[in-house]
Amino acid sequence: MLIKRAPDVRASDITDEVMYLDRRRFITRAGIGLAALGAGAPLTALGDRGGASQGDDKLTPYEDVTTYNNFYEFGTDKDEPAKNAHTLRTRPWSIAIEGHVKKPAVYAIEDFLKPHRLEERVYRMRCVEAWSMVIPWMGFPLADLIKRVEPTSSAKYIEFTTLHDPRQMPGQRRQVLNWPYTEGLRLDEAMHPLTILVAGLYGKVLPNQNGAPLRLVVPWKYGFKGVKSIVKMRFVETQPRTAWNDAAPDEYGFYANVNPEVDHPRWSQAKERRIGEFRRRATLPFNGYGDQVARLYAGMDLRKFF
Ligand code: MTE
Repeated sequence: MLIKRAPDVRASDITDEVMYLDRRRFITRAGIGLAALGAGAPLTALGDRGGASQGDDKLTPYEDVTTYNNFYEFGTDKDEPAKNAHTLRTRPWSIAIEGHVKKPAVYAIEDFLKPHRLEERVYRMRCVEAWSMVIPWMGFPLADLIKRVEPTSSAKYIEFTTLHDPRQMPGQRRQVLNWPYTEGLRLDEAMHPLTILVAGLYGKVLPNQNGAPLRLVVPWKYGFKGVKSIVKMRFVETQPRTAWNDAAPDEYGFYANVNPEVDHPRWSQAKERRIGEFRRRATLPFNGYGDQVARLYAGMDLRKFF
């Protein structure tokens, strides 16, 4: 078997998901399995794969992507989310769209996903803790959802909120962060075509530990912007508070753009360890996506707005 199946994937979930898959990209997945096994095919050889450019960006194996996680609602050690997240029930699940939009609504996850085709995007992901992975996500542009709900001219930012339920999320019984986990994007960042809402990885339904049933992925920002298990998106006028910025404002800024020149107060951000490799590699500005996103920050002092 090329790809291990997460233990808690139900057949109905897979059927649901396959319904939304972009067929063309789904077929190209055949190549991914080989890369994941260590055959080492550079991503560029796999065709149009969502913007990865470094020739030596091999996919991080499924096993690592799904067992080395940050999801503090299920524990603060990297192996705890995979062990504990089985208590999360992802059906039924609803997602509220609130705030400055013409079409506020509460959607069942099935209705939320239905109009969108999931397509595969292989992104480099850089955690603020100076490790990185290359992950084939299954998702759709957040911009498509934004257009669907029609923000008004007062909508300048989106605030995203994770489920708050200490019965399902045992980590929330301790005040590690100010629960629920929240994150935010400026509206133009949210509209950028690289920004996606994700419901799967490696062509399968998203494992709970990776943020099922729906999470955000913003590949030029540190991983903590990728809020998991989303229950609410609120369109707001002013910059929203975010969980990590609340917890340690000097360490985690609102923007969180990957920047090798702005160190974390307690460690350097100049290099990173790609999971599965020993030698550390240089971290790239905007995680290597600068040609596509740097214009969003033209004229801003990125040391101040870190
Ligand atoms: N979302 C929630 N709700 N809780 C978390 O603890 N951790 C963040 C982010 N999203 C986190 C979260 C951090 S620090 C990272 S690096 C990524 O999720 C990790 O995503 P992954 O486990 O799918 O690689």
